[in-house]
Amino acid sequence: MKNILVTGGAGFIGSNFVRRMTEKYPDYNIIVLDKLTYAGNLDNLLPVHDAPNYTFERGDIAHRATVERVIAEHQIDTVVNFAAESHVDRSILAPDAFIHTDVVGLYILLDVARHTGVERVHHVSTDEVYGSIEEGFFREGDPLEPNSPYAASKAGAEMMLRAYQVTYGLHTSVTRGSNTFGPYQYPEKIAPFFITEAIDDRPLPLYGDGMQVRDWLYVDDHCDAIDVALHQAAPGAIYNVGGEHELHNIEVTRFILQALDKPESLIRYVEDRPGHDRRYALTNDKIRAELGWTPQHTFESAMADTVRWYQANEWWWRKIKTGEYLEFYKAQYAQRLAEASE
Ligand code: NAD
Ligand code: TYD
Repeated sequence: MKNILVTGGAGFIGSNFVRRMTEKYPDYNIIVLDKLTYAGNLDNLLPVHDAPNYTFERGDIAHRATVERVIAEHQIDTVVNFAAESHVDRSILAPDAFIHTDVVGLYILLDVARHTGVERVHHVSTDEVYGSIEEGFFREGDPLEPNSPYAASKAGAEMMLRAYQVTYGLHTSVTRGSNTFGPYQYPEKIAPFFITEAIDDRPLPLYGDGMQVRDWLYVDDHCDAIDVALHQAAPGAIYNVGGEHELHNIEVTRFILQALDKPESLIRYVEDRPGHDRRYALTNDKIRAELGWTPQHTFESAMADTVRWYQANEWWWRKIKTGEYLEFYKAQYAQRLAEASE
């Protein structure tokens, strides 16, 4: 492993991974390929801007000629795919981009990889491919029953990855991470959205009864698991990566409000998300036993640090919350908030 292509490296988790890898592995060359969609942000990569082993290429993973050029020019031997449309609410409003990037984009990466001698493709997937589970925990062999267009696009990508592994012998691996939080997360996902809205004393739109359950994973732990899997996973291996910290959405919301010393009267119960998965839950038994990975951060300290980061870094998020962001906000929340109860 020498020249690693990190697709989607200007997004939330990808940029954390790039910051980590450039420092931890000075002998690796890290090449980021990112389309810079609304979610891609070069500010996320400012800390590595001058790193000698970092290069940025702007481009679409679904554009074959671009992928061929980047892989050839940088003699890529390893691909780590973070590039995706990643927000469930946007997938409900407009699924097209999800098929384009999450499914077709991964297919292009795989196909160019197999024709150019790339040794390994690691794909960053999600616990959402399993669908919802009332009790117990999903294991890697369980059937995939995705419920949102986002989850279906991620599941479709995994099926194509599997086919390239089995049919062409491409060395692939997959991590299925749970809900991730931390610095530099685009403020449409619940944690950064609610933190930044609460800082401005604006109402927090909690879907339905707020009793949906997610398993919260700190971004450093998520990237640690991807690093370990990238180096150790056997061909075709799939690993769950859970935070081992299940919380109801109302509990996450209350934690954020308390950390900011803001009142619970900011909470608004709004009309639910269509097809809203009730609970995501994974077991880490396999990655723990085979790769020795476990999450190292507690939710309480990591979320408190995250809240402090958004308080200290208004320069980063204030300029995001304009233009296209406000259009999405209006489409998503204006009517729900108008009808909401406290
Ligand atoms: P993000 O939305 O913050 O970043 C996605 C990045 O991909 C952006 O930089 C964007 O510009 C880029 N991108 C989008 N379309 C592209 C294209 N066609 N070509 C090249 N680049 C493109 O997402 P994130 O939260 O950092 O998630 C990264 C990956 O991790 C995704 O694959 C997501 O499905 C997965 N994941 C996320 C979570 C989570 O809680 N955020 C949990 C588990 C898995
Ligand atoms: P989100 O951060 O969008 O992640 P995902 O849908 O991938 O789990 O949402 C996390 C949970 O928070 C999910 O159950 C939906 C809920 N949620 C709200 O209640 N209000 C909001 O404004 C958002 C963005 C999410």
